[in-house]
Amino acid sequence: MAHEGYLIDQFLQDGSNQRTDEYGGSIENRARFLLEVIAAVSSVWGADRVGIKLSPSNTFYGMFDSNPQATFSYVLEALSSANLAYVHLMEPNEVDMKNRDVLHPVTPLFRPRYQGTLISNGNYTYETANYALANGEAELISFGKFFLANPDLPERFKLNAPLNEPDFKTFYGSGENGYTDYPFLEQVAR
Ligand SMILES: Cc1cc2nc3c(=O)[nH]c(=O)nc-3n(C[C@H](O)[C@H](O)[C@H](O)COP(=O)(O)O)c2cc1C
Repeated sequence: MAHEGYLIDQFLQDGSNQRTDEYGGSIENRARFLLEVIAAVSSVWGADRVGIKLSPSNTFYGMFDSNPQATFSYVLEALSSANLAYVHLMEPNEVDMKNRDVLHPVTPLFRPRYQGTLISNGNYTYETANYALANGEAELISFGKFFLANPDLPERFKLNAPLNEPDFKTFYGSGENGYTDYPFLEQVAR
């Protein structure tokens, strides 16, 4: 389940949630929708096939929370007993850090709150990802932009080969350009 700025996030964070019923106000109330969705989809697929991405420092779509540390700690603790496949934590990007004084880095701060498989994401390189794994900050690191730009990313990491640079102009649309036309290593070598 993706999260950043979408419906579940809009319920969770008090920058968007203005409700006065049992889904608004306290952290417990704002987290209710998220936890109910997790319970509902887990009852259909099994919790071990459900994961959720949490983005405590995302500012996209104007998202914010007056106390992200308390809000997301509550959610992570509540999810710790849900036996999910994973929780995915997103680090802020450069725009988030320019927009506001956001929590950074997110993963070491929240790691102690979650007893389960944690994936961290956001601005990692091969080197910083390995460092975070060796440090026990997360069980897994995921890559967005580099995977988009490198169809053979694991192979390139294995060989310590140079990476194709992501082309920001082609993000979020514009047909197959920037989605299916980044070259594989052997095409670069030719
Ligand atoms: C083209 C593009 C589309 C994305 N769409 C979503 C999305 O729909 N939901 C989401 O949670 N994250 C989305 N992301 C964010 C990525 O999942 C990831 O968190 C982000 O790119 C940071 O990781 P990175 O620095 O390795 O790219 C998108 C990223 C890119 C580049």
